[in-house]
Amino acid sequence: MPEFPEKFDMAMSTWQEWQDAPWGRLRYAIAEANLVRHLDGLPGGPLRVLDLAGGDGGDALRFAARGHHVTIVDYAPAMLAAAAERADAGGLAERITCVRADVNALPTDLAAGEFDVVLCHNLLQYMDDARPVLATALTPLRMGGLFSVMAINRYSAPLNIAVREVDLAAALTALDTDQARTQMFDSALTLHTAEEITSHLDDLGCRDVRHYGIRSVCDYITDDARKYDPAFYGDLERLELVVTARHPYMHTARLFQLTAWKREE
Ligand SMILES: C[S@@+](CC[C@H](N)C(=O)[O-])C[C@H]1O[C@@H](n2cnc3c(N)ncnc32)[C@H](O)[C@@H]1O
Repeated sequence: MPEFPEKFDMAMSTWQEWQDAPWGRLRYAIAEANLVRHLDGLPGGPLRVLDLAGGDGGDALRFAARGHHVTIVDYAPAMLAAAAERADAGGLAERITCVRADVNALPTDLAAGEFDVVLCHNLLQYMDDARPVLATALTPLRMGGLFSVMAINRYSAPLNIAVREVDLAAALTALDTDQARTQMFDSALTLHTAEEITSHLDDLGCRDVRHYGIRSVCDYITDDARKYDPAFYGDLERLELVVTARHPYMHTARLFQLTAWKREE
């Protein structure tokens, strides 16, 4: 795993700026709210959570702050170092374990980990083929455990280009491709749809798949400066929290989040 992890590590400061921006804050806030709706279905007390490709702990720290134990797996050392630093600074170090590994080759103890919750957020777009990654991600989850997967929504790509870049020719091309690029990490992306991933999850032994849209509205408001106004941001977050689970808005949101339960055979 020599070169690709470095692309993530080299973009650390841009990545952290993105997380602090209104659209970054929304992504974590809405994902957490969607997960919290389902935690009642799990036993009380600290849960064992596995955050695959967890980066610098944006989701993990929120779970740890709720009293749960989170293992972050990531192959980029600077991302993991930042996660450990944030855990220390937040007094959460005892509840966060960082493991450097490729998610495609999980250490045996993690693969057999019997975790209550497994997160796989914003990893799939870096993989050509989502299905084997999902199969690997579901292995450490115990029967009856909660799975959450998030990725860039392919349906949002042409809309995003048309609305934000006003490049209609490029939007037309984007309608018929699942290929894109990320400037931040200088990498090729493969974009997926919630329907495609739901079908894999059904086949791979999940039940009750729920679809949420993340940033259903935010990215289609082109006045980004306004989103830094706290009152405007507050209204935007309230709106996003309502439309996250509403048809048809989730279908064109920038990201999709799917939650599912691992079937007890
Ligand atoms: C966009 S970041 C997302 C981080 C985190 N899940 C979040 O949403 O805040 C993608 C992360 O995936 C990690 N990653 C990509 N491919 C990986 C692989 N094969 N094994 C482990 N980590 C990987 C990168 O190092 C990076 O930290």
